[in-house]
Amino acid sequence: MKITKICCIGAGYVGGPTMAVIAQKCPHIQVTVVDLNEQRIALWNDPNVDNIPIYEPGLSEVVAEARGRNLFFSTAVDEAIAEAEMIFISVNTPTKTYGSGKGLAADLKYIELCARQIARVSTTDKIVVEKSTLPVRTAEAIKSILQNTGNGVKYQILSNPEFLAEGTAVEDLFSPDRVLIGGETTPEGEKAIQALVDIYANWVPKERILTTNVWSSELSKLVANAFLAQRVSSINSISELCEKTGADVNEVARAIGMDSRIGPKFLKSSVGFGGSCFQKDILNLVYIAKSYGLHEVADYWEQVIIMNDHQKTRFAKNIVCTLYNTVADKKIAFLGWAFKKDTNDTRESAAIYVANDLLFEQAKLAVYDPKVEHTQIISDLNYLQTRPSQENEKGIQTFNDPYEACKDAHAIAILTEWDEFKGYDWEKIYAHMNKPAFIFDGRNLLDKEKLTRIGFKYQTIGS
Ligand code: NAD
Ligand code: UGA
Repeated sequence: MKITKICCIGAGYVGGPTMAVIAQKCPHIQVTVVDLNEQRIALWNDPNVDNIPIYEPGLSEVVAEARGRNLFFSTAVDEAIAEAEMIFISVNTPTKTYGSGKGLAADLKYIELCARQIARVSTTDKIVVEKSTLPVRTAEAIKSILQNTGNGVKYQILSNPEFLAEGTAVEDLFSPDRVLIGGETTPEGEKAIQALVDIYANWVPKERILTTNVWSSELSKLVANAFLAQRVSSINSISELCEKTGADVNEVARAIGMDSRIGPKFLKSSVGFGGSCFQKDILNLVYIAKSYGLHEVADYWEQVIIMNDHQKTRFAKNIVCTLYNTVADKKIAFLGWAFKKDTNDTRESAAIYVANDLLFEQAKLAVYDPKVEHTQIISDLNYLQTRPSQENEKGIQTFNDPYEACKDAHAIAILTEWDEFKGYDWEKIYAHMNKPAFIFDGRNLLDKEKLTRIGFKYQTIGS
């Protein structure tokens, strides 16, 4: 089966970049990305391609090339579904905030809405692709909704989880470690799998396109994120031990990472992992394990989250403790708010939790992030519902100039590893700070020797 028209529901961090790359690499396929969020779609269509709603290195170039040629962004969801032979579902699947499974399970209401909309609108056979990260066996629910319309339309459901990381999305999409496609092991299922394989094969080497059954594919996505997050929590747990023993976590990470069985990646100790997915996906895994009565399995993975929460809390506590046990009315500059460099995404960023703890201690926070706006910062804090919005506004100022943010501060906390922080004139920053001038480097980013020479009291994680 040759695919000529694709529809993707959800123009977010995954739908937008993934479809832009498919469109760029497959000029013969018409790709329409739809979303209910009118403002988001308007930004994707903004004549100035630098205004697209997601910041990713290289993305605006890809969009500029394909948009209007075979890549379209629209709010006309029904029309795009009706036209397409293949429909990707790339909507959000956040942790449930109500009812059974609250705080653990993935909220699948947006997925179900998509399935129902596809069922209502379709008059021709479709391949429906799960691009969102979903609990294992979700395809069963989608299938049940799609196959009970009685209108004779036939569906194949594939699982094709996305492994891109934010900040490197375009690079990851251009040359993925692997593309995973799960489908039914029937002749129709195999045909559908092949149709999707053929799309990726336009630029991904065949040996990197892996096909499995649907359940393995769905579960592999949760497991990949759990393993990655587990490495970060593992090294972060060791960072605390290093601080007590005189070992240096960077040296330990290098020493163990050179063992080819362990490998060097994802061993960077930090103030804690953030991002929209690690926590959500592990909680979901925990929930699934519990629902099968696998309590030891659930506890094992839950510990990854417990350790991550601990790492964020202890970073904030250390700031208070080092600043003579009080930060009330002291200016503390935050360099970075995004959950990692090269993205404007702040979901679950460690900065939010550290800020929240310091606001409880009545600190005055001065935030600078090259890509995050004031309204986003306030909305991240309001989302925690720990104090009225006016108090968050009172406690936080945002700056467009890092030197202004650091001026008269008692301490600087590095929350994101933006490259530009390394190149600052640290002598100048030091000259305008309250003394003693502290730096708490939550990313082990800066040059300890140089900063100590300037006069800073410099603390990193894990040494
Ligand atoms: P997102 O919130 O950025 O985007 C989701 C979009 O879907 C939103 O714009 C929302 O308006 C839209 N939407 C929701 N319901 C809709 C409906 N019924 N009709 C039309 N549009 C609808 O989310 P995201 O970060 O792109 O994540 C999407 C999925 O991909 C999640 O399951 C996530 O776990 C997974 N994932 C995310 C990443 C990442 O780096 N962000 C990486 C891999 C996988
Ligand atoms: C992660 C995975 O890497 C992707 O493969 C996956 O597709 C995605 O989640 C998803 O499902 O959403 P992402 O969250 O964008 O990607 O970014 P990562 O590079 O994985 O970083 C996650 C967090 O861990 C960041 O806060 C980062 O600073 C932190 N981290 C990462 C560390 O603290 N130390 C490390 O060594 C690596």
